[in-house]
Amino acid sequence: MADISKHMTKACDMSLGNAFVPVEYYTSPDYFRREQDMIFRRAWLMVGRMDEVPEPGDYIVREVPTLKANVVIARGKDGQVRAFHNACSHRGVALVCQPRGNTMTFRCPYHAWLYRIDGSLSAIPGEQDFPHVDKAANGLAGIHLDTWGGFIFLNFAQEPEVSLSQFLAGLDVMLDGAPFEQFPFCIRVTDEIDCNWKNLVNAFNEGYHVAVLHNKTLRPAVVPKDNPHLHYLDVKQFGPHSTGTVQRNFDYNPDAPALTWVYAQMLPTSAPDLDAIKQGRAGFHDHPGINRLKIENFGTETITVFPNISIQPLANGYLFYQFWPISERRMRTEVRIYSRHAPRTLREEYAMASTLAATRDVVVEDMAMSRLQQIGMESGGKTHQQFGQNEPLLRMFTRDYEAYLAGAAM
Ligand code: FES
Ligand SMILES: [Fe+2]
Repeated sequence: MADISKHMTKACDMSLGNAFVPVEYYTSPDYFRREQDMIFRRAWLMVGRMDEVPEPGDYIVREVPTLKANVVIARGKDGQVRAFHNACSHRGVALVCQPRGNTMTFRCPYHAWLYRIDGSLSAIPGEQDFPHVDKAANGLAGIHLDTWGGFIFLNFAQEPEVSLSQFLAGLDVMLDGAPFEQFPFCIRVTDEIDCNWKNLVNAFNEGYHVAVLHNKTLRPAVVPKDNPHLHYLDVKQFGPHSTGTVQRNFDYNPDAPALTWVYAQMLPTSAPDLDAIKQGRAGFHDHPGINRLKIENFGTETITVFPNISIQPLANGYLFYQFWPISERRMRTEVRIYSRHAPRTLREEYAMASTLAATRDVVVEDMAMSRLQQIGMESGGKTHQQFGQNEPLLRMFTRDYEAYLAGAAM
C-alpha cells in the first residue's frame, strides 16, 4: 500500500469537535453514580461466552462489580440459557457458591430452599410455615439475556430500551460470521487498580502511546516506519461502538533467535496460520469486516463494544479486555486470551506461557500509566484533558458518554 496516511482517520473526519474534556468525569463520585444509572443499568453488558455453558445443567457465576451484581448463568434442561441474580428468595443468600459446575438443582446452604436449573422454586422445607409464599412467584430473580457471536450479554433494566441487535447498531452485521467459536480455549486473568475505568478504555482506543509507553514491549513488533504514532486506520463507528485497523511492523526481526522462534509458535499469534487456512479454518484472516483495507502488515482490528470492552482478533486467536468501574477511582480489569485449543505439547505450553507473559507486560504498563494519570488528575492542577485529532475514538466515546448521562436513548 503506497500511502497509508490517507487511511488514518482523524477526529475531524468523523465530525468530532475539539472540546476539552473535564477531569471531573474521571474523579467525581457523582459522575460514577450517574454512570451506574445512566449507562451500566441500561446498556447490554457482555459477561461470558455460550461455550462456557455447553450442556444442560452447566452454569457459571459472574460478578458485575459496577452494579455489585452476582449472577448465575445456567443452561436449562430445555437447552435455553438464562441469567438470575444469585440471591435466595427466602433471606437473600448468594446460594450458588461454586464458580462453575453442572447440576439440575440449586440448594440454598442456609435453610435448603431448592431451585430448579431454570430458576424456579421447587421446594421449601417446612412449607406449612410459609402459607403466604407462592412458590410459582418466588423463583430466582431473572436478568435479561441475549447473545451475539456466541457472547452472552445481560441487561439489568426492568425492560431493555432496545434489543441487543439494535444496541449493537450494525457492528453485529459487519462482524456477522466472525469465527469466535473457532477459539474456545480461554485463559482469564483479573486485577484491580486505583484509577478510573475510562483511563483504560481510552488507552485501548489510541495507538499514540504505543511507541512511548510500550517502547520495550510492543513497539518493535507493532509500530511500522510509515506510521510512527500508530494512528488507527479506517475507523468505523456503529452507534457508540467502533472498529479500527492496527498495523504491525513487518520489519520486526528480533536479534535473539529464541524470540523469533517463540513468535512463530505463539498460539494466538498475528501471523497467518497457513495450515489452518488450507483446512478452511482461517480464523479472522478472511473475514470481510476485518482488515477491510487488506493491508499486508495487518496486526489486529480493535473492536470497541460500548461501554467497556475491547476485542482484538488476531490471525490465530483473539484478545478480550473488559474494564469494570468499582468507584470513580477503582476499577477491575479482565483480560482473556482465546486460542484454538489448550497447549498439547511442551513447545505449545512454552509458547502459551510466553504469550501470557508478553500480554501481561503490556497490560501492566497500561495499568501503571492509568494509575499515574489518576494521581495527576486528582491532584487538582488541571481541570481538563485534551484529545488530539489522532485520538478520534476518545472523542467519540466522550460524545456518547455525555449523551447517555444526559438521558439520550440507548
Ligand atoms: S436464605 Fe436461602 S433458604 Fe434461607
Ligand atoms: Fe497500551
